[in-house]
Amino acid sequence: MYILLMGPPGAGKGTQAAQLVEKFNIPHISTGDMFRAAVKEGTELGQQAKACMDAGQLVPDSVTIGIVKERLAKQDCKKGFILDGFPRTVEQANALTSTLTELSIKLDRVININVPAEDLVSRIVGRRICKACGATFHTVFNPSSLEGKCDKCKGELYQRADDREDTVRNRLSVYEAQTQPLIKYYEQNGLYTEIDGRQEIHKVLDDILESLKGRSL
Ligand code: AP5
Ligand code: MG
Ligand code: ZN
Repeated sequence: MYILLMGPPGAGKGTQAAQLVEKFNIPHISTGDMFRAAVKEGTELGQQAKACMDAGQLVPDSVTIGIVKERLAKQDCKKGFILDGFPRTVEQANALTSTLTELSIKLDRVININVPAEDLVSRIVGRRICKACGATFHTVFNPSSLEGKCDKCKGELYQRADDREDTVRNRLSVYEAQTQPLIKYYEQNGLYTEIDGRQEIHKVLDDILESLKGRSL
């Protein structure tokens, strides 16, 4: 199953991807997670990405396209993937189309989790992530049972560096200017589905699964 998950910052892409991974046993490829891992490791890529991420700007296409191409060519993508947060520009979408053709991969669904801008800031500002296992929580909408600790592994919860309110507003305007136009790009290919991301987490998942019915597994 080859799934492309789109949606504005804070829409719930990572939250839904975590559940789809368990269900379909395919890799979750999030460019944001890849950049954060590089920042943590202190690599050259990490240093380059950090400046862009902290400002709420996109990492340059030349860099991003290269790491995704390399990732998609790996063996574990042979039976599917969930691509989260890529493509984000028309140039990235064109590069993805040609990479998938080279790899003889056909997307099964392009899923856009739609959440209005006014709900996104509170979602992002309240997000907490486990340092140990990466599980995502929300102080109000999806709280862990013990404050500051992960339900799955008891790891410590932290807030992402780019989840401060001023950076979030930049991320939202970058999304509107550069990524939202891609909806038109994918609407034309007949694989596009829009999901109402304002619903509860399990309802959003139900709608996603419904949209995948009948696709190859
Ligand atoms: P990235 O990490 O991809 O961030 P993003 O797109 O801004 O999306 P988020 O991860 O913030 O949100 P999400 O949709 O995953 O929501 P989540 O499930 O966590 O990218 C970060 C940065 O990296 C970019 O700004 C850029 O600099 C760089 N980058 C990444 N990809 C790039 C690319 N392709 N090109 C160039 N640069 C790139 O949920 C959010 C919160 O809401 C959580 O707390 C969650 O618990 C809660 N929540 C989830 N679902 C619901 C629900 N249904 N109801 C209530 N609360 C919910
Ligand atoms: Mg995410
Ligand atoms: Zn954890």
